[in-house]
Amino acid sequence: MSSPRERIFAQVTPPESLESGAPGRFHIRTFGCQMNQHDAQKMANLLHHAGLAASERAESADVVVIHTCSIREKAEHRLYTELGILLARKRAEPGLVVGVGGCVAQQEGETLLRRFPKLDFVFGPQNLVHLPAMVRAARERERMLRVDYDDDAGTRFDLPERHPGYASPTPGRAFVTVMEGCDLFCSYCVVPRTRGREVSRPSAQILAEVRALADAGTSEVTLLGQTVNAYGRPRPGRVDGEIAFAELIRRVAEVPGIRRIRFTSPHPCFVTDELIEAFADVPALCPHLHLPVQSGSNRVLAEMSRRYDRETYLDIIARVRRARPGIAISTDLIVGYPTETAADFEDTLRLMDEIRFTDSYSFKYSERPGTPAQRHGLGELDDSEAQARLERVQDVQRELTLDAHRARVGQRVEVLVEGASRHGDGQLTGRCPQHRVVNFTAREPVALGSHIQVDITGCTPHSLLGAAAGDPG
Ligand code: 5AD
Ligand code: SF4
Repeated sequence: MSSPRERIFAQVTPPESLESGAPGRFHIRTFGCQMNQHDAQKMANLLHHAGLAASERAESADVVVIHTCSIREKAEHRLYTELGILLARKRAEPGLVVGVGGCVAQQEGETLLRRFPKLDFVFGPQNLVHLPAMVRAARERERMLRVDYDDDAGTRFDLPERHPGYASPTPGRAFVTVMEGCDLFCSYCVVPRTRGREVSRPSAQILAEVRALADAGTSEVTLLGQTVNAYGRPRPGRVDGEIAFAELIRRVAEVPGIRRIRFTSPHPCFVTDELIEAFADVPALCPHLHLPVQSGSNRVLAEMSRRYDRETYLDIIARVRRARPGIAISTDLIVGYPTETAADFEDTLRLMDEIRFTDSYSFKYSERPGTPAQRHGLGELDDSEAQARLERVQDVQRELTLDAHRARVGQRVEVLVEGASRHGDGQLTGRCPQHRVVNFTAREPVALGSHIQVDITGCTPHSLLGAAAGDPG
């Protein structure tokens, strides 16, 4: 089955004129976070502007890019498996161009080119713009490495206008990059090394992109950044961004046609009073906050260099809930951090219970090269213990999610319609403002990308179930 990512590439009509002379079809295989997913769209758009057409399947493409993630070891391993298979294809198809981008590319750089002599190019997340040139060079049998850091907000975000086929993976919704990089250096995290320093995109460029998207029918935008709410924060010698994150949200909300604004991922230490106020008085700002907490133990939070404690986190959530009653709170959790004791872990479970997260993404700690935790030789916890903790967190979360869903039964919610439900039973699917998946039936035809009212009649741990309002029950 094709992933949503692969499906959007398929929507693009092959262009008529080919700049390179040689017809080209590309396929991008992406791993990792939403930032990576969105970068893949930007890469597809760049290749489109260079005259190549998208291919739904890697097998029928003559340019294949593996777009990697290095946040945890598991994600990194998948690159090596896929790359091996792909490069073996080159024996029969010498013209095949293969590149590796993303965070592993940034970290491994030249090592990758040395280890895989048939690999054509390697490029880091700040070098997307060079992709067409790397493809052209590969066709001339030149191998390229582009892993330089680009801290210039002016050039870094200056990409060609989005082709409608690549504008959005789902009808009506789009990602918009507002900043990249991270200056926080949490002890376990590889991001500051792969994505580099914090750089905010000029607000005029962001607003122009949002306006263009809205003109083309997008009504929901998700503002993206590694520490998205650090957007525009004043730092010595830096002026990028020019306005603060809360102000950016207000300006995006003023763009005609924008009905929903989301953002991911914020850091607790940049949740300002102004951002909390925006939840109170910007109706377009969705009632959902994904705020990674990582651990409920103050000792572990300090070890992780997270810069807040559980009390501060609880206080933020209390204030956000006062500003926007009914807001859904979700989080990221790491279990089995090297020094995490059973008591620390209990603190995490208690925090989950106190906050009653609507959802959480939980991960077993994975040691990453070059991170402070690795440099201190902390190692990893016994895997069976870490696995047991992960399963416990996931069990607790399943119940919390189900409870949150049950509380919604009987409500009427607005759904942004995304398409057919993946259960293939004639139902439609979309998301409510709280970001829950809603699967629903509708008697009348419903346009993809439209907003409709749905009465919630039931739920599962994964979704809300309902019927379009007005349909006889
Ligand atoms: N091990 C496990 N999980 C990690 N994350 C980041 N680095 C690691 C790591 N080394 C998780 C955090 C973060 C999410 C994107 O990935 O929870 O919020
Ligand atoms: Fe990684 Fe911490 Fe930066 Fe998030 S805030 S990207 S977890 S270093």
